Amino acid sequence: MAFPGFRSFQAVSTCVPHIPNVARRTIHTFREVQSLRTFRKELRSGQRTVGFVPTMGALHEGHISLMRQAAAENTDVFVSIYVNPTQFGVHEDLDSYPKTWQEDMDKLQALNKELQGDTSSGRITAVFAPITKVMYPTLPPSSEITGSGSFVTITPLGSLLEGASRPVFFRGVATVCMKLFNIVMPERVYFGQKDIQQTVVIKRMVKDFHLDTEVKIGPTEREADGLAMSSRNVYLGARRREVGVVLSRALRAAEKKYLQGKRLRADILWPANEVSSSKMMEQDDLPPSKRARVEVDYISLADPDTMEEIEVVDTSKGAILSGAIKLLPLEEPQEGEDCGLGGGAVPVRLIDNIILKPIN
Ligand code: PAJ
Repeated sequence: MAFPGFRSFQAVSTCVPHIPNVARRTIHTFREVQSLRTFRKELRSGQRTVGFVPTMGALHEGHISLMRQAAAENTDVFVSIYVNPTQFGVHEDLDSYPKTWQEDMDKLQALNKELQGDTSSGRITAVFAPITKVMYPTLPPSSEITGSGSFVTITPLGSLLEGASRPVFFRGVATVCMKLFNIVMPERVYFGQKDIQQTVVIKRMVKDFHLDTEVKIGPTEREADGLAMSSRNVYLGARRREVGVVLSRALRAAEKKYLQGKRLRADILWPANEVSSSKMMEQDDLPPSKRARVEVDYISLADPDTMEEIEVVDTSKGAILSGAIKLLPLEEPQEGEDCGLGGGAVPVRLIDNIILKPIN
Protein backbone atom coordinates (compact mmCIF):
# COMPACT_ATOMS: atom_id res chain seq x y z
CA MET A 1 0.00 0.00 0.00
CA ALA A 2 1.46 3.40 -0.96
CA PHE A 3 1.08 6.49 1.20
CA PRO A 4 1.74 9.56 -0.92
CA GLY A 5 3.92 12.10 0.79
CA PHE A 6 5.37 9.62 3.22
CA ARG A 7 9.11 9.13 3.48
CA SER A 8 10.92 7.37 6.22
CA PHE A 9 14.04 9.19 7.34
CA GLN A 10 15.94 6.29 8.78
CA ALA A 11 16.46 3.24 6.65
CA VAL A 12 13.47 1.02 7.32
CA SER A 13 12.52 -2.17 5.59
CA THR A 14 9.18 -0.97 4.33
CA CYS A 15 7.70 2.13 2.86
CA VAL A 16 4.39 1.67 4.63
CA PRO A 17 3.95 3.85 7.70
CA HIS A 18 3.00 1.88 10.72
CA ILE A 19 2.76 2.80 14.36
CA PRO A 20 6.30 2.62 15.59
CA ASN A 21 7.02 0.87 18.81
CA VAL A 22 7.96 3.59 21.31
CA ALA A 23 11.31 1.89 21.78
CA ARG A 24 12.16 2.21 18.08
CA ARG A 25 14.03 5.19 16.76
CA THR A 26 12.55 5.56 13.32
CA ILE A 27 11.48 9.09 12.50
CA HIS A 28 8.85 9.27 9.79
CA THR A 29 8.84 12.37 7.63
CA PHE A 30 5.71 13.58 5.88
CA ARG A 31 5.32 16.14 3.14
CA GLU A 32 1.58 15.78 2.61
CA VAL A 33 -1.37 16.31 4.92
CA GLN A 34 -3.31 13.12 4.26
CA SER A 35 -0.53 10.65 5.02
CA LEU A 36 0.28 12.44 8.26
CA ARG A 37 -3.39 12.40 9.26
CA THR A 38 -3.66 8.66 8.65
CA PHE A 39 -0.60 8.09 10.82
CA ARG A 40 -1.89 10.41 13.52
CA LYS A 41 -5.34 8.73 13.63
CA GLU A 42 -3.78 5.37 14.24
CA LEU A 43 -1.84 6.80 17.19
CA ARG A 44 -5.05 8.10 18.71
CA SER A 45 -6.76 4.74 18.50
CA GLY A 46 -3.75 3.32 20.32
CA GLN A 47 -4.22 5.78 23.22
CA ARG A 48 -1.01 7.60 22.34
CA THR A 49 -0.63 11.33 22.93
CA VAL A 50 1.04 13.80 20.62
CA GLY A 51 3.12 16.78 21.73
CA PHE A 52 3.77 19.09 18.80
CA VAL A 53 6.76 21.41 18.37
CA PRO A 54 6.42 23.75 15.36
CA THR A 55 9.75 25.08 14.05
CA MET A 56 11.33 26.71 11.04
CA GLY A 57 14.33 24.36 11.20
CA ALA A 58 17.97 25.39 11.74
CA LEU A 59 17.51 23.56 15.03
CA HIS A 60 19.48 24.48 18.13
CA GLU A 61 19.31 23.67 21.83
CA GLY A 62 16.31 26.00 22.28
CA HIS A 63 14.24 23.85 19.92
CA ILE A 64 15.62 20.61 21.34
CA SER A 65 14.71 21.62 24.91
CA LEU A 66 11.07 22.00 23.81
CA MET A 67 11.20 18.55 22.24
CA ARG A 68 12.61 17.08 25.45
CA GLN A 69 9.75 18.64 27.38
CA ALA A 70 7.24 17.30 24.82
CA ALA A 71 8.78 13.82 25.06
CA ALA A 72 8.51 13.90 28.85
CA GLU A 73 4.79 14.65 28.64
CA ASN A 74 3.62 12.64 25.60
CA THR A 75 4.20 9.24 24.02
CA ASP A 76 4.90 10.83 20.64
CA VAL A 77 6.51 14.08 19.57
CA PHE A 78 5.73 15.61 16.19
CA VAL A 79 8.02 18.33 14.87
CA SER A 80 7.27 20.57 11.91
CA ILE A 81 10.05 22.13 9.86
CA TYR A 82 8.64 24.79 7.60
CA VAL A 83 9.90 28.30 6.86
CA ASN A 84 6.56 30.06 6.67
CA PRO A 85 6.62 32.85 4.05
CA THR A 86 3.59 34.75 5.38
CA GLN A 87 5.32 35.75 8.60
CA PHE A 88 8.14 37.46 6.69
CA GLY A 89 7.51 40.97 5.39
CA VAL A 90 8.24 41.77 1.76
CA HIS A 91 11.63 43.27 2.70
CA GLU A 92 12.59 40.66 5.28
CA ASP A 93 15.09 37.81 5.26
CA LEU A 94 12.94 34.91 3.97
CA ASP A 95 15.48 33.81 1.36
CA SER A 96 18.44 34.06 3.68
CA TYR A 97 16.75 32.15 6.53
CA PRO A 98 19.19 29.28 7.33
CA LYS A 99 18.13 25.89 5.94
CA THR A 100 19.97 22.90 7.41
CA TRP A 101 17.78 19.84 6.74
CA GLN A 102 20.40 17.11 7.18
CA GLU A 103 21.88 18.64 10.34
CA ASP A 104 18.36 19.04 11.73
CA MET A 105 17.58 15.38 11.09
CA ASP A 106 20.86 14.33 12.70
CA LYS A 107 19.95 16.35 15.79
CA LEU A 108 16.52 14.70 16.00
CA GLN A 109 18.12 11.25 15.68
CA ALA A 110 20.63 12.11 18.41
CA LEU A 111 17.80 13.27 20.67
CA ASN A 112 15.90 10.02 20.14
CA LYS A 113 19.02 8.10 21.01
CA GLU A 114 19.27 10.07 24.25
CA LEU A 115 15.56 9.56 25.03
CA GLN A 116 15.89 5.83 24.49
CA GLY A 117 17.62 5.57 27.86
CA ASP A 118 14.44 6.74 29.61
CA THR A 119 11.66 4.18 29.40
CA SER A 120 9.01 6.61 30.67
CA SER A 121 9.75 9.14 27.94
CA GLY A 122 8.18 9.50 24.50
CA ARG A 123 10.06 9.74 21.21
CA ILE A 124 10.13 11.90 18.16
CA THR A 125 8.07 9.87 15.76
CA ALA A 126 7.13 12.30 13.00
CA VAL A 127 8.51 15.29 11.16
CA PHE A 128 6.16 17.30 8.99
CA ALA A 129 8.03 19.22 6.30
CA PRO A 130 5.52 20.45 3.74
CA ILE A 131 6.11 22.61 0.70
CA THR A 132 4.26 25.92 0.45
CA LYS A 133 1.67 24.64 -2.03
CA VAL A 134 0.62 22.11 0.63
CA MET A 135 0.35 24.71 3.38
CA TYR A 136 -1.35 27.34 1.22
CA PRO A 137 -3.43 25.25 -1.22
CA THR A 138 -5.65 27.95 -2.74
CA LEU A 139 -3.68 31.13 -3.29
CA PRO A 140 0.05 31.81 -3.34
CA PRO A 141 0.70 33.28 0.11
CA SER A 142 0.89 37.04 0.37
CA SER A 143 3.31 38.94 2.57
CA GLU A 144 1.57 42.22 1.78
CA ILE A 145 -0.45 43.67 4.63
CA THR A 146 -3.37 44.18 2.21
CA GLY A 147 -2.78 40.86 0.42
CA SER A 148 -5.55 38.36 -0.32
CA GLY A 149 -5.74 35.01 1.41
CA SER A 150 -7.22 33.12 4.36
CA PHE A 151 -5.59 34.57 7.45
CA VAL A 152 -5.96 34.48 11.23
CA THR A 153 -5.49 37.90 12.80
CA ILE A 154 -5.30 38.57 16.51
CA THR A 155 -5.64 42.29 17.18
CA PRO A 156 -4.52 44.53 18.75
CA LEU A 157 -2.13 42.03 20.36
CA GLY A 158 -0.51 41.17 17.04
CA SER A 159 0.12 44.82 16.13
CA LEU A 160 2.12 45.73 19.24
CA LEU A 161 5.89 45.46 19.86
CA GLU A 162 7.18 42.84 17.39
CA GLY A 163 4.04 43.43 15.37
CA ALA A 164 4.76 47.16 15.17
CA SER A 165 8.16 46.44 13.60
CA ARG A 166 6.92 43.50 11.55
CA PRO A 167 3.27 44.20 10.56
CA VAL A 168 2.47 40.83 8.93
CA PHE A 169 4.46 38.72 11.39
CA PHE A 170 1.79 37.57 13.85
CA ARG A 171 -0.84 37.19 11.14
CA GLY A 172 1.57 34.77 9.45
CA VAL A 173 2.43 32.96 12.70
CA ALA A 174 -1.21 32.58 13.80
CA THR A 175 -2.27 31.47 10.32
CA VAL A 176 0.41 28.81 9.92
CA CYS A 177 -0.04 27.55 13.48
CA MET A 178 -3.82 27.25 12.96
CA LYS A 179 -3.12 25.17 9.84
CA LEU A 180 -0.49 23.04 11.60
CA PHE A 181 -2.70 22.44 14.66
CA ASN A 182 -5.58 21.38 12.37
CA ILE A 183 -3.31 18.96 10.56
CA VAL A 184 -1.48 17.46 13.56
CA MET A 185 -4.34 17.64 16.10
CA PRO A 186 -1.88 17.53 19.01
CA GLU A 187 -2.89 17.06 22.64
CA ARG A 188 -0.24 19.64 23.55
CA VAL A 189 1.75 22.27 21.66
CA TYR A 190 5.16 23.55 22.80
CA PHE A 191 6.48 27.08 22.34
CA GLY A 192 9.57 28.84 23.68
CA GLN A 193 9.49 31.77 26.07
CA LYS A 194 12.22 33.27 23.87
CA ASP A 195 9.42 34.50 21.56
CA ILE A 196 7.18 35.65 24.37
CA GLN A 197 4.69 37.65 22.30
CA GLN A 198 4.27 34.64 20.01
CA THR A 199 3.27 32.55 23.06
CA VAL A 200 0.69 35.18 24.08
CA VAL A 201 -0.72 35.26 20.53
CA ILE A 202 -0.93 31.45 20.36
CA LYS A 203 -2.59 31.18 23.77
CA ARG A 204 -5.13 33.80 22.70
CA MET A 205 -5.80 32.00 19.42
CA VAL A 206 -6.33 28.65 21.18
CA LYS A 207 -8.71 30.31 23.66
CA ASP A 208 -10.69 32.43 21.20
CA PHE A 209 -11.07 29.70 18.55
CA HIS A 210 -11.73 26.94 21.12
CA LEU A 211 -8.88 24.84 19.80
CA ASP A 212 -8.65 21.52 21.60
CA THR A 213 -5.02 21.62 22.62
CA GLU A 214 -2.97 22.71 25.61
CA VAL A 215 -0.28 25.38 25.14
CA LYS A 216 2.95 24.69 27.05
CA ILE A 217 5.81 27.18 27.32
CA GLY A 218 9.46 26.16 27.72
CA PRO A 219 12.17 28.42 29.20
CA THR A 220 14.62 30.38 27.02
CA GLU A 221 17.84 28.48 26.37
CA ARG A 222 20.90 30.73 26.49
CA GLU A 223 24.59 30.72 25.64
CA ALA A 224 26.96 30.84 28.63
CA ASP A 225 27.15 34.67 28.52
CA GLY A 226 23.35 35.08 28.49
CA LEU A 227 22.69 35.55 24.76
CA ALA A 228 19.38 33.87 23.94
CA MET A 229 19.87 31.08 21.40
CA SER A 230 18.42 31.84 17.99
CA SER A 231 18.68 30.40 14.49
CA ARG A 232 19.74 33.88 13.37
CA ASN A 233 22.80 34.04 15.68
CA VAL A 234 24.88 32.32 12.97
CA TYR A 235 24.83 35.62 11.07
CA LEU A 236 26.42 37.59 13.93
CA GLY A 237 30.12 36.70 13.77
CA ALA A 238 32.46 37.40 16.71
CA ARG A 239 32.34 41.23 16.75
CA ARG A 240 28.55 41.57 16.67
CA ARG A 241 28.10 38.48 18.87
CA GLU A 242 29.95 40.25 21.70
CA VAL A 243 27.80 43.36 21.41
CA GLY A 244 24.54 41.37 21.03
CA VAL A 245 24.71 40.23 24.63
CA VAL A 246 23.84 43.81 25.69
CA LEU A 247 20.13 43.03 25.31
CA SER A 248 19.99 40.30 27.94
CA ARG A 249 22.21 42.43 30.23
CA ALA A 250 19.88 45.41 29.87
CA LEU A 251 16.82 43.32 30.68
CA ARG A 252 18.53 41.74 33.66
CA ALA A 253 19.38 45.20 35.03
CA ALA A 254 15.68 46.11 34.86
CA GLU A 255 14.60 42.81 36.43
CA LYS A 256 16.92 43.54 39.35
CA LYS A 257 14.96 46.71 40.11
CA TYR A 258 11.68 44.74 40.18
CA LEU A 259 13.22 42.15 42.48
CA GLN A 260 14.41 45.01 44.72
CA GLY A 261 10.80 46.15 45.07
CA LYS A 262 10.39 48.80 42.34
CA ARG A 263 6.98 48.81 40.65
CA LEU A 264 6.92 51.98 38.54
CA ARG A 265 7.79 51.81 34.86
CA ALA A 266 10.40 54.55 35.03
CA ASP A 267 12.11 52.97 38.06
CA ILE A 268 12.30 49.56 36.40
CA LEU A 269 13.25 50.58 32.87
CA TRP A 270 15.89 53.26 33.38
CA PRO A 271 18.80 50.85 34.03
CA ALA A 272 17.91 48.88 30.89
CA ASN A 273 17.90 52.05 28.81
CA GLU A 274 21.18 53.12 30.38
CA VAL A 275 22.94 49.79 29.70
CA SER A 276 21.82 49.81 26.06
CA SER A 277 22.54 53.48 25.33
CA SER A 278 26.02 53.32 26.85
CA LYS A 279 26.78 50.29 24.64
CA MET A 280 25.53 52.21 21.59
CA MET A 281 27.73 55.20 22.42
CA GLU A 282 30.74 53.01 23.18
CA GLN A 283 30.46 51.37 19.75
CA ASP A 284 29.82 54.65 17.90
CA ASP A 285 33.10 56.00 19.33
CA LEU A 286 35.17 53.06 18.06
CA PRO A 287 36.77 53.07 14.59
CA PRO A 288 34.68 51.33 11.86
CA SER A 289 37.19 48.46 11.69
CA LYS A 290 36.53 47.58 15.33
CA ARG A 291 32.94 48.46 16.06
CA ALA A 292 29.58 46.74 15.75
CA ARG A 293 26.88 49.37 15.65
CA VAL A 294 23.63 48.62 17.37
CA GLU A 295 20.17 50.22 17.39
CA VAL A 296 17.51 49.69 20.04
CA ASP A 297 14.12 48.98 18.56
CA TYR A 298 12.24 48.89 21.87
CA ILE A 299 12.56 48.10 25.56
CA SER A 300 9.11 47.30 26.91
CA LEU A 301 7.34 46.70 30.19
CA ALA A 302 4.00 45.15 29.34
CA ASP A 303 0.90 43.43 30.67
CA PRO A 304 1.38 39.62 30.41
CA ASP A 305 -2.02 38.99 28.77
CA THR A 306 -2.36 41.93 26.38
CA MET A 307 1.27 43.02 25.83
CA GLU A 308 0.11 46.60 26.30
CA GLU A 309 2.60 48.97 27.96
CA ILE A 310 2.03 49.54 31.67
CA GLU A 311 3.00 52.39 33.99
CA VAL A 312 3.01 50.29 37.13
CA VAL A 313 3.34 46.54 37.70
CA ASP A 314 0.32 44.87 39.27
CA THR A 315 2.15 42.34 41.44
CA SER A 316 -0.79 39.92 41.34
CA LYS A 317 -0.24 39.55 37.57
CA GLY A 318 3.45 40.31 37.11
CA ALA A 319 4.68 41.74 33.80
CA ILE A 320 6.74 41.05 30.72
CA LEU A 321 10.00 42.85 30.24
CA SER A 322 11.10 42.54 26.62
CA GLY A 323 13.33 44.17 24.07
CA ALA A 324 14.57 44.11 20.50
CA ILE A 325 17.85 45.40 19.08
CA LYS A 326 19.33 45.49 15.62
CA LEU A 327 22.99 44.78 14.91
CA LEU A 328 23.83 46.75 11.79
CA PRO A 329 25.96 45.26 8.99
CA LEU A 330 29.62 45.03 9.87
CA GLU A 331 31.77 47.93 8.67
CA GLU A 332 35.25 47.23 7.35
CA PRO A 333 35.48 43.47 7.98
CA GLN A 334 39.11 42.51 8.65
CA GLU A 335 41.20 39.87 6.94
CA GLY A 336 40.56 36.50 8.66
CA GLU A 337 37.86 37.94 10.92
CA ASP A 338 34.94 35.69 11.93
CA CYS A 339 32.15 37.71 10.35
CA GLY A 340 29.44 35.03 10.58
CA LEU A 341 27.30 33.58 7.80
CA GLY A 342 26.77 36.18 5.07
CA GLY A 343 30.12 37.86 5.76
CA GLY A 344 28.65 40.37 8.22
CA ALA A 345 26.47 41.97 5.54
CA VAL A 346 23.15 40.71 6.97
CA PRO A 347 21.61 42.98 9.64
CA VAL A 348 20.56 40.89 12.63
CA ARG A 349 17.57 41.67 14.81
CA LEU A 350 17.69 40.08 18.26
CA ILE A 351 14.82 39.77 20.73
CA ASP A 352 14.76 38.71 24.35
CA ASN A 353 12.56 38.93 27.43
CA ILE A 354 12.25 38.23 31.13
CA ILE A 355 8.99 37.39 32.87
CA LEU A 356 8.53 39.43 36.05
CA LYS A 357 6.65 36.89 38.12
CA PRO A 358 3.62 37.74 40.25
CA ILE A 359 4.40 38.35 43.91
CA ASN A 360 1.88 37.11 46.47
P1 PAJ B 1 11.46 29.06 15.26
O1 PAJ B 1 12.10 30.38 15.33
O2 PAJ B 1 12.14 27.95 14.53
O3 PAJ B 1 11.19 28.58 16.74
C1 PAJ B 1 10.50 27.38 17.01
C2 PAJ B 1 10.22 27.32 18.51
O4 PAJ B 1 11.45 27.30 19.22
C3 PAJ B 1 9.45 28.57 18.99
O5 PAJ B 1 8.45 28.17 19.91
C4 PAJ B 1 10.53 29.38 19.65
O6 PAJ B 1 10.05 30.24 20.67
C5 PAJ B 1 11.41 28.29 20.24
N1 PAJ B 1 12.75 28.80 20.54
C6 PAJ B 1 13.58 29.50 19.71
N2 PAJ B 1 14.70 29.86 20.36
C7 PAJ B 1 14.58 29.39 21.63
C8 PAJ B 1 15.42 29.44 22.79
N3 PAJ B 1 16.60 30.06 22.79
N4 PAJ B 1 14.97 28.83 23.93
C9 PAJ B 1 13.75 28.20 23.95
N5 PAJ B 1 12.93 28.11 22.88
C10 PAJ B 1 13.33 28.70 21.74
O7 PAJ B 1 8.99 30.47 16.19
C11 PAJ B 1 8.99 29.99 15.07
O8 PAJ B 1 10.00 29.19 14.60
C12 PAJ B 1 7.87 30.22 14.07
O9 PAJ B 1 7.30 31.48 14.29
C13 PAJ B 1 6.76 29.11 14.13
C14 PAJ B 1 6.08 29.05 15.50
C15 PAJ B 1 7.36 27.74 13.78
C16 PAJ B 1 5.66 29.44 13.07
O10 PAJ B 1 6.20 29.49 11.80
